[in-house]
Amino acid sequence: MAPIRVGTLLGFLPEVVAGIIEPEEEVSASVQDVLADPQTSLNAIPFSTRAHWMRQANIALGAPCPFAAFGSVIVNHTVPGLGELVCTGFNSRSSGNPILHGEIAAIQNCSAILTDPLGPYKLTGSKAIDAFSQLSLYTNAESCPMCASAIRWSSFREYIYGTSIETLVKQGWAQIRVSSLEIFRQSLDVQPQTRLLGQVLTNETDPFFFWQFNPDFPCPEGCKRSESGSTCEAVNA
Ligand SMILES: *[C@@H]1O[C@H](CO)[C@@H](O)[C@H](O)[C@H]1NC(C)=O
Ligand SMILES: *[C@@H]1O[C@H](CO)[C@@H](O)[C@H](O)[C@H]1NC(C)=O
Ligand SMILES: *[C@@H]1O[C@H](CO)[C@@H](O)[C@H](O)[C@H]1NC(C)=O
Repeated sequence: MAPIRVGTLLGFLPEVVAGIIEPEEEVSASVQDVLADPQTSLNAIPFSTRAHWMRQANIALGAPCPFAAFGSVIVNHTVPGLGELVCTGFNSRSSGNPILHGEIAAIQNCSAILTDPLGPYKLTGSKAIDAFSQLSLYTNAESCPMCASAIRWSSFREYIYGTSIETLVKQGWAQIRVSSLEIFRQSLDVQPQTRLLGQVLTNETDPFFFWQFNPDFPCPEGCKRSESGSTCEAVNA
């Protein structure tokens, strides 16, 4: 093996040289793509709490089994314990606004709630902008580049997603193929930074996205295949 031969020639321990000569480029390229394990307690928040809010993102959907089953919740984790829900949002393109993805809907909703003069927060515009840096956005699927950019422009404290873009693409979803990690990587000038935690509770988020382009995949709970088989509808609809 080449490294051993070089090591022997230079009089170094072969293993040491192997460590240096081994494909270091490959190692540093892949480490750039590594995400924190979904079970880790980032910012001292345990997985059970992450799972609780990811489930809330799943049920933030406006209907039992919408085709675009993308839901988000925005939470204040500086409140001890589970944290406090500030607002929710779900994909609302069907309202006629093509950019009203779940995350955008949630950010708009929080913004309205934070600045509502009759609401619980009554913040000014600039205080509302500051407030986002205390908040965490949970979404049941990885944000598209538009939403990931919106998340960075909001300077959320944390961003937590379920099903990955890679999984969505494999399941037949049209996606703009840029990962949130890449958007975050290119957002270094936007402060404060946002901590990213991905693929949290995918065993429970994936089923919301696996039935749309696979007639053999079971509908979400409470729903059944329509006559045509192409959509799922509420059982008692
Ligand atoms: C978040 O919680 C902290 C601690 O209770 C509080 O001071 C802050 O106003 C809250 N922010 C928002 C936007 O809810
Ligand atoms: C905004 O968030 C509130 C609080 O979670 C929720 O009750 C309401 O349905 C949300 N509005 C929209 C339009 O999603
Ligand atoms: C999904 O996995 C998590 C652990 O990663 C577990 O706590 C949870 O119970 C699982 N959900 C279901 C429905 O099995």
